[in-house]
Amino acid sequence: MGFDVVKYIGAVTVLLTRYSHVMTLEMQYVAFTAGCGPDGLALQRTLLPALRSREVLIRNFATTVNRADTLQRRGLYPSPPGESAILGLDAAGIVEALAPDCTGSWKQGDRVMALLTGGGYAEYVAVPEDVLMAVSPGMPFTSAAAIPEVWLTAYQLLHVEGGLKRGDTVLIHAGGSGVGSAAVQLCLLAGCRPVITAGSQEKLDAARRLGAVAAFNYKTEDFSEKVLTFTEGRGVDLILDCVGASHYERNMKSIRIEGRWVLYGLLGGGTISGDIFSQMLRKRITITGTTLRARDLQYKKRVVDGFTRDVLPLFSKGASPAVKPLIDSVFPLAQAGEAHTRMEANLNTGKLVLQVRDEATGKSLHDEL
Ligand SMILES: NC(=O)c1ccc[n+]([C@@H]2O[C@H](COP(=O)([O-])OP(=O)(O)OC[C@H]3O[C@@H](n4cnc5c(N)ncnc54)[C@H](OP(=O)(O)O)[C@@H]3O)[C@@H](O)[C@H]2O)c1
Repeated sequence: MGFDVVKYIGAVTVLLTRYSHVMTLEMQYVAFTAGCGPDGLALQRTLLPALRSREVLIRNFATTVNRADTLQRRGLYPSPPGESAILGLDAAGIVEALAPDCTGSWKQGDRVMALLTGGGYAEYVAVPEDVLMAVSPGMPFTSAAAIPEVWLTAYQLLHVEGGLKRGDTVLIHAGGSGVGSAAVQLCLLAGCRPVITAGSQEKLDAARRLGAVAAFNYKTEDFSEKVLTFTEGRGVDLILDCVGASHYERNMKSIRIEGRWVLYGLLGGGTISGDIFSQMLRKRITITGTTLRARDLQYKKRVVDGFTRDVLPLFSKGASPAVKPLIDSVFPLAQAGEAHTRMEANLNTGKLVLQVRDEATGKSLHDEL
């Protein structure tokens, strides 16, 4: 394939026209050095991201903190090759510019949210048009940003990887987390029974308010005993597991024969020394590991399309049944370090949002910096 000069000039012209109101082609973003602590996060300037084929530039109003960001900051989870090295897997804002080969699904000025592979902790972010979703009228960007990564993960765990069936009882660990709080609501929508575990009364109560049919404190009680009592000895049909090693034995006891177990995080470690294979064999269990960030665009589009069809309309005002993102707190982008500290201390119930721009004026909160 040769270099297409006409397309290149077209793209540059589009960008220059669209950015004419921006004084420089620079933006602020949160910089870090891999291995640093939360106090190593600081605003710096860089060039606006360049648009690649079928990408859209979002004028970013809000992003959120995900566990992946804290791991990336610590140097344990680098961004996939070729993707933005800036932190942040969510964005919500306004379409600012589109690559010349975009298909017309989106236009300048649309209110959108997006699942990112990186780049959310910044004033602008470039994202493939296939992973954009519309923001419901009236929904603030600080709420919309709390949807893409954790809701799409929960949808993927239940419907793409977990084979969820109506009537299933689902054991959801970290029930007060971003993913857990979304999974509870998605289970209810699918006619299933969400049972959660969490480590504080506040999180147990929050999950119950969202509709969890049972909630157990994994720090003060043996959740497997409680689960077996609750299911009258049968065990749960599906486990959503972001804990791994430290919950493995109790998960084995909690799961029913021929149950499904989706592993998507290792908050409790990744090394076990138990007889996992013989127990898997005896119970004929299916264990599936999954990550969303490293998936190809086709897979992400499939998840986004399914979620847009099945769930997105239910975020609208007056929808019935209705769903909502659970938000812990909102920090200005410049205080990303404080939000990381809160997440690493497991203090957040729901999402930690980072606000980039004023909702009403669109002005960056960080202009004076
Ligand atoms: N595979 C994927 O594609 C994917 C995508 C998104 C997220 N994730 C994973 O999903 C998990 C949840 O993410 P999130 O952003 O929703 O997290 P979050 O809101 O920060 O919540 C995580 C919660 O997990 C609990 N926890 C922490 N360490 C624990 C341990 N050792 N044992 C049991 N519970 C523990 C804590 O609550 P308690 O107070 O209840 O202990 C903590 O607040 C993370 O592991 C993340 O990496 C995976």
